[in-house]
Order: sequence, then C-alpha cells, then structure tokens
Amino acid sequence: MFLPTVSLLSSSAAATAGVVICPVVQRGALDDLQALLPAAAGELRAAIDRGEFQGKPCEFFLTSLDDDQRRRIVAVGLGPADRLTPDRWRRAAAAGTLAARSRRFDAVTIVTGGAGPDDVAAAVDGALSAGFDVGSYRTGEPEVATLKVVEVLARQGSGALEEARRRGQALGMAVNAARALANEPGNVLSPSTLATRARELAQAAGLACEVFDEQALKDMGAELLLGVGRGSAEPPRLIVLRYEPEDARPGITLGFVGKGVTFDTGGISIKPSEKMELMKYDMAGGAAVIGAMLAIAALRPAVRVVGVVPAAENMPGGRAIRPGDVLRGAGGKTVEVNNTDAEGRLILADALWYARERAGATHLVDVATLTGACVVALGRFNSGLFGNDAAWSSLVAELAGAAGERAWPMPLDEEYDEQIRSDIADLVNTGGRAAGAVTAAKFLQAFTGNLPWVHLDVAGTAWLDESQPWMPKGPTGVMVRTLAGLALAHGRVPART
Ligand code: BES
Ligand code: MN
Ligand code: ZN
Repeated sequence: MFLPTVSLLSSSAAATAGVVICPVVQRGALDDLQALLPAAAGELRAAIDRGEFQGKPCEFFLTSLDDDQRRRIVAVGLGPADRLTPDRWRRAAAAGTLAARSRRFDAVTIVTGGAGPDDVAAAVDGALSAGFDVGSYRTGEPEVATLKVVEVLARQGSGALEEARRRGQALGMAVNAARALANEPGNVLSPSTLATRARELAQAAGLACEVFDEQALKDMGAELLLGVGRGSAEPPRLIVLRYEPEDARPGITLGFVGKGVTFDTGGISIKPSEKMELMKYDMAGGAAVIGAMLAIAALRPAVRVVGVVPAAENMPGGRAIRPGDVLRGAGGKTVEVNNTDAEGRLILADALWYARERAGATHLVDVATLTGACVVALGRFNSGLFGNDAAWSSLVAELAGAAGERAWPMPLDEEYDEQIRSDIADLVNTGGRAAGAVTAAKFLQAFTGNLPWVHLDVAGTAWLDESQPWMPKGPTGVMVRTLAGLALAHGRVPART
C-alpha cells in the first residue's frame, strides 16, 4: 500500500534517500544548501555559472553528490524570489519526486533549508502527491518506483516545522485519496460503491458516516436526486460525513457539498461519444469533499464540518427522466427538467437542502464539475467561484489561491434569474447558451436558503489533460486543500448575524 514515511531531519548526516531534491530560487543565494550540503552547493554554483541551470519554475538539473556517487542531486527551480509562494515549493517538491520515481528511486530527501512552515508543509504535500499511482489497473511491471520515504532536511527543527510536516502529510494523502476516487472507472465506482468507499475511509479516519439509500431518499422527498438516478440500474445515494470535535467553535457548522455523478452520459439528452469516457470524473467534487473530510479528521480543527455527497449515475434508460419532466426537490421547490444533461445542479439542490435543513450547516461551499461553459470561460488554471456573500467568497478565494487551487470570481446578478424561469414550475434546469456557468450557479443559489454560500465549478480543473512536470495527466484532487484550509482557518469564518 502507498503509505510513505515522512520525517523531518536537521542534519544531512541523517539523510538516507537516494535522491536529494534541492529547490533553488532563481538568482538566489545558495546559503541554505551550502550549510547543509556544501558539495552539492558547489556543484550547483558551478552549473549556474556555466549557464546550465537558472532555477526557473520546475527547471531541472541533475548531478551526483561527489562524496557518494550513488546519491543523486536533483536541483529544481523555484522561480524568482519575489514570486515565491508555498505553491512553488509544492510544485518543485512534486516535480523532483516524480523525476526520482521515474528513475526508480523510492526515497527522496527534500532540502528545505531555512524555509518557513507553510513552505515546508507545501513541500511535504507536493512530494506525497507525486507518489500518486495513476495506472492502478496496470498489471505489468510498474514503470516507476513506489514512493516509500520522504525526508525533509531543514536547517533546524522546531515545533512549527513538525506541525507543518503533519499538515503537509495529511493534505497530500487526502488529495491522493480524492484523486484515486476520481480516477476510478464508472463500472467500478457506482453510487453505492462510492458510498461504501466513503464509509470505509470515514471509519478509518474516525468520522461519522451516514448513507441514505433509495427508500430513505423517497422518505426525504429528494426527488431531484432520485430523478437523476432513475435511468440507471445503479440506484442513487446521499453520503453524509460528519466531523464534530468536542472543542467545536459554537454557532458554526461548515457544510461542504460535492457533486458525485459517478458517470455522466447526459441521460436522455445524451452526450456526444467523443471524450465521454472522461465523464467518470464527474464525481470529482464529491471526491474533493471526502478527501477534505479525511484531512480535517487528521488535523482536528475546532470547528464542526459536515460533508454531503449526492451520488448518482446519469444514464438513459426506460425509466429515465425525460426533457420536460417536472420534479419536486426535498425542500418543496419544483423543477422543470428541460435538459437531462444538466443533472449536477439537480442532485446538488437536494444536497444543499440537506446540508442546511438536516445537517445544520451555517456556511456552505459546493464543489462540482458543473459546466462545460466554465471550461470555456476560464480554462484549466482557475476554477469558477460564485457566491452570495462577499466576506465568505473572498475568504474562500484567498484560501484557494494560497492552496495553489486558484478560483476566479464570477457574477451572480439577479438579472440572470430570468433565464432559469419556467412556464410550468418554479425553475427550469438550464438557461440557454448565454452564461451557462452563471445560470447553473443561479440554479444552485435558489437552494441555499440565503446562507453564506460559495459554488466552485471545477469542470476545467479537476482533470489534467496533459502531464505537467509536477503532476501527471489525470485527476488533480482540486479543492481538497481549499476545503481543508477553510476548516483550519475557521477563526476567520465570519459569524452569522
Ligand atoms: N458534467 C457536465 C459538465 C462537464 C463538462 C464537466 C466538461 C467536465 C467537463 C455537466 O453535467 C453537463 O453536462 N453540463 C452541461 C450543461 C448544459 C446541458 C446546460 C454542459 O456543460 O454542457
Ligand atoms: Mn451532464
Ligand atoms: Zn455532469
């Protein structure tokens, strides 16, 4: 199993790994490296003088430690000092670790030198996320080493760095758990198996878990979630994870809601076949919520958090809902379904209702691979951020940026409501071609009961189409770090008035 040991060292004599990763600031001093590994510093300085290496983001330089030819030095660029963020550390550590694994090294030492706790946490997080196994169904010899050891070499140890190591470790592992779920094919991960996985993960982490089956959903009146699931032989589920520490800050319960469509064919409004296989990741929002709950359980912030994942498979079938059907949500609102491919907002509507009415959430964040329109608008480097409360939105945006999961604010003006007005019901589920990501968010907003709420559309960011130096193509686990960061920063969550 993938469970590397992570340790904090303050002397290079204690380092054992075959690869030493040295993140290097572009045109920066090499003092830290000089103090810890003078030979490596000398080699690098010579390479920089020769112009062989500059330290641009994720630029590489490989050499061997001259006192021990079996040890490799991988210098990785951090980019210029004035743009040095924890995310640069995360990427450098991940890129170095991926390079090590591809050369069959299963252990890395990352030289963090005098870097502060947030940079150290990011480095640990990055190294562990680089241990993620993309080809989990390959039966041949693995092409890369399984990561076993991560050592962090700092100039001196401290309680703050030890806390940073723990934080980085919990986040990296939680991100990988989310990626593993999003990577599962639709035949393996159905709504019920997603629920089983969530239950097992919750149990191991010490979280409470409740799963509502079809009958329980009928009793709840969650016809939007039931409706989306009707075309499939795999019945829908509502998965609820709870973190309730004894020292919880009173008056606040964070409600995280994640879209869990285990496969999205579009239903009767069926999708074109090109790239439809990717719709296995249409539960990436739900996976991010589950991953974040795992990190939160490990890091134990003093705030109540509930994670709600509506899970359904969107299939055409003899019992599937049709365009024109009218469904009634758990809160009583009626919806005309004019396009069965706009299923995410339907299941999220019932889940948002559950989070606030049944689970007592006071602040909501939902994460969803909701619209192709958001991919058109923002591409792969920013998720769409929509919200109804300026303070809550800006806190989420700030933490997302700090977590290396950038999210860009999108509008929610009331004029857009016109587009999702139905002639026959309270709402219609799609609002035409114009502003598709916005009207999807407007639909969700109608189910938030005016609680502070943020919607994160991760359709463009939850899956990487092309490998990057710091991450192979595939599921990214985006928003695990942001959601966990929100719980860790609960002291800054604005109390409700
Ligand atoms: N799961 C899709 C959105 C999506 C598209 C995610 C591409 C990831 C990559 C969602 O359920 C969907 O089908 N949305 C429709 C909405 C439309 C019918 C209004 C879309 O974006 O085309
Ligand atoms: Mn769809
Ligand atoms: Zn979908």
